Amino acid sequence: MTLTIEPLAPRRHRRSAFCCGQDSLDSYIRKQASQDLKKRVAMVFVLVDSPNPDVIAYYTLSSYTVHITELSESFAKHLPRYPLLPATLLGRLAVDSTHQGKHLGELILIDALKKALNATAQVASLAVIAEALDEKAANFYQKYGFQPFKQNPMKLYLSMKSVEALCQTFNI
Ligand SMILES: CC(C)(COP(=O)(O)OP(=O)(O)OC[C@H]1O[C@@H](n2cnc3c(N)ncnc32)[C@H](O)[C@@H]1OP(=O)(O)O)[C@@H](O)C(=O)NCCC(=O)NCCS
Repeated sequence: MTLTIEPLAPRRHRRSAFCCGQDSLDSYIRKQASQDLKKRVAMVFVLVDSPNPDVIAYYTLSSYTVHITELSESFAKHLPRYPLLPATLLGRLAVDSTHQGKHLGELILIDALKKALNATAQVASLAVIAEALDEKAANFYQKYGFQPFKQNPMKLYLSMKSVEALCQTFNI
């Protein structure tokens, strides 16, 4: 058995039993994720223990824009004054309840950040934005250096420079 992170293959990966404790995230991977993938609204990546097709964890990545006024002054002051700036959205991230607390959330978060960083070689992005469903999830992201947006503490960002440093710390 080998843990692998793969793009969601709707016909192969089993999602019906996925349960992370947040109904909206369970329902998303079971019912909506394959549509989003097909329509290119989000790339969906799943963690599986191959060859077992059960989804253990997943996350989504999409292109995004942020308003410069949403960012902290200390970050914004180094940026050009364009009203909209390019970013990468880590829209959803979840680990099945039976597998939580085994550093798999960390594993997929760092993998998502590395993919976002690698993509900047082709398409610019100045930060990864994460949307937390509650304070607990926001705390998880903050542990890795994410900063809350000024007007909405459930939306957080990590500059691509910090993403790069974090990936180096994790040696990936
Ligand atoms: C939040 C979630 C992804 C964390 O995944 P996990 O696999 O249980 O967490 P990990 O085992 O990888 O934890 C890694 C580290 O983060 C810490 N951590 C985990 N959840 C945390 C939280 N809510 N707040 C602060 N720290 C947290 C762990 O203690 C661990 O720290 P350590 O390295 O010092 O031991 C998972 O609990 C989950 O799927 N929750 C429901 C869905 C959700 O809220 N998703 C968030 C985005 S919308």
